[in-house]
Amino acid sequence: MKKVIVTGGAGFIGSHTVVELMAAGLEPIIVDDLRNSQERVLHGIEAIAGRAPRFHRIDCTDREALRRVFREEGPVQGVIHFAADKAVGESVTHPLKYYHNNIGSLVVLLEVMAQHGVKDLVFSSSCTVYGQPAQLPVSESAPDANASSPYGFTKVVCERLLRDQHVADPTLRVVMLRYFNPIGAHPSGYIGELPLGVPNNLVPFVTQTAAGIRGALTVHGDDYDTADGSCLRDYIHVVDLARAHLRALTYANTHEAPICEVFNIGTGKGNSVLEVVRTFEEVNGVKVPYVIGPRRPGDVEQVFADTSRSNKILGWKAELDLRTALRDAWTWQQHLMQ
Ligand code: UD1
Repeated sequence: MKKVIVTGGAGFIGSHTVVELMAAGLEPIIVDDLRNSQERVLHGIEAIAGRAPRFHRIDCTDREALRRVFREEGPVQGVIHFAADKAVGESVTHPLKYYHNNIGSLVVLLEVMAQHGVKDLVFSSSCTVYGQPAQLPVSESAPDANASSPYGFTKVVCERLLRDQHVADPTLRVVMLRYFNPIGAHPSGYIGELPLGVPNNLVPFVTQTAAGIRGALTVHGDDYDTADGSCLRDYIHVVDLARAHLRALTYANTHEAPICEVFNIGTGKGNSVLEVVRTFEEVNGVKVPYVIGPRRPGDVEQVFADTSRSNKILGWKAELDLRTALRDAWTWQQHLMQ
């Protein structure tokens, strides 16, 4: 079985990707220090896949520990690199943590990959690199240095770092995926998002509000220049996103020539915050009390993806809609409360 190292494989997107890799007959090796996850995710993966994934509890900025994993696991086909901090607000109050972890882990990983002759890398980037795009839907050729938070800027820097490293070592095959807004959960209810403390992101806040854990959702602004005044985002089901990683890895593995390419991974559709709330209520038959609050600093008004490149070149397309994602998110929330 072909081995694939998945850093951050116990995280939200990582765990769903591990499930897809296992279903495709690959052997993912999770490298994760569980700083933003829990052991229960590993059990959830096992419940879905029917076997436990291989797992090393290490911090990806720890060069020696990462080297040991590559040495012990033997030849690996490629790496999918998720391990990173991702809270936009925290990155403003703790920028050094973000620059250290997000950039440091990629530097260490590239060094260790070079030492072991591993050439294929799928990197977890974000639509945050676009900031507020001038044109929508936004394509990969739009300017990529508009990230408004330190978190977002680490993604810009990491993409640049990968391009520079690809110039230095043109035998690398690098695929960078710019995700839009990942939501939902595995339909089984065994894995999903595990927000620490009060969720910052919309859908976990919605599910916790519907469950009565939070009193009311605050909709951050209803005076934007959109149909209902709330912000527009491209919400992509995490299972679709996970499948995009499998496609990206296959694309890298089977590409004769070296590559360093970037792809948008979204649905191509924008939905407003209020549409998400209403759709959630409708699909799940539960109320989500909400109040309208002021705009959240740093929010862009609207962003959704031009996915023609990933559709054409990766042969990937989002298949699951907003309703399915919100149903699965609610199933997961209920599973968490059992
Ligand atoms: C942000 C990042 C994105 C990152 C993601 C994961 C930017 C521009 N985007 O996405 O790159 O991958 O976080 O952490 O930096 N909202 C409410 N009430 C809430 C929570 C959210 O109204 O309680 C609204 C927000 O104002 C926004 C939308 O819901 O309009 C989505 O917010 P969120 O889920 O936090 O994602 P982004 O900020 O779009």
